[in-house]
Amino acid sequence: MRRPIIAGNWKLNNTINEAVELINGLKRELVDADGVDIVVCPTYTALSDAHEILMDTNIKLGAQDVYWEEKGAFTGEISPQMLKDAGCDYVIIGHSERRKYFNETNETVNKKIKAALAAGLLPIVCVGEQLEEREAGKAFDVIKDHVTGSLAGLSGEDMEKIVLAYEPVWAIGTGKTATPQQAEEVHAYIRGLLKEIFDEETAENTRIQYGGSVKPDNIKELMQEKDLDGALVGGASLKIDSFTQIVKGAV
Ligand code: PGA
Repeated sequence: MRRPIIAGNWKLNNTINEAVELINGLKRELVDADGVDIVVCPTYTALSDAHEILMDTNIKLGAQDVYWEEKGAFTGEISPQMLKDAGCDYVIIGHSERRKYFNETNETVNKKIKAALAAGLLPIVCVGEQLEEREAGKAFDVIKDHVTGSLAGLSGEDMEKIVLAYEPVWAIGTGKTATPQQAEEVHAYIRGLLKEIFDEETAENTRIQYGGSVKPDNIKELMQEKDLDGALVGGASLKIDSFTQIVKGAV
């Protein structure tokens, strides 16, 4: 049985004080949440404070990106070891906004995954097609390219530590959620790819989140789908109330 996992991707939002307030609220509201893994991903500047508050709770900490080098002359970057040091367990890699605005490619995603794993971080790896690609009937080709390229050279054992997130780019921050059936179709396709690349067991055990306008009122329906194992939540993760309801709705 795959345990559901709900992660909040805060993106470029919240000062340290705002982050502390949100995290304290989530800690209070989610103290009894059971049967689900919960992750919050604030900005880098709030990680240490977040870690202090979340230590020994059921909420894990994640970062939104990472670089693949451990140290050196790479101005502006942050290493997997530094994220571990700040208290992170998870790291989002290959988010569509990184792919779109910061030239992230399957190759850089792949390097980041390997470096994150080597440092003991658990990667949340994002894949997903753009609207034009879906309309041109290329959604599955794009997904195949993202999955095979991002996961190149990894083993079944590596996959035990990786969560995948299917995020159709046209559904991110637009209020347009993929229908549960549209999501399931792609999730099942991804699971089939994992079976081809790795094996049946790895495919069955890998958790695949859905992301794109997940809200308290659509999480239950999405979670009914058999290959959908949780959500990567953007906008709705910025409010105590909506994120709490999503976590509770996922169980
Ligand atoms: P959204 O973002 O929930 O605001 O659509 C999801 C994401 O980008 O991870």
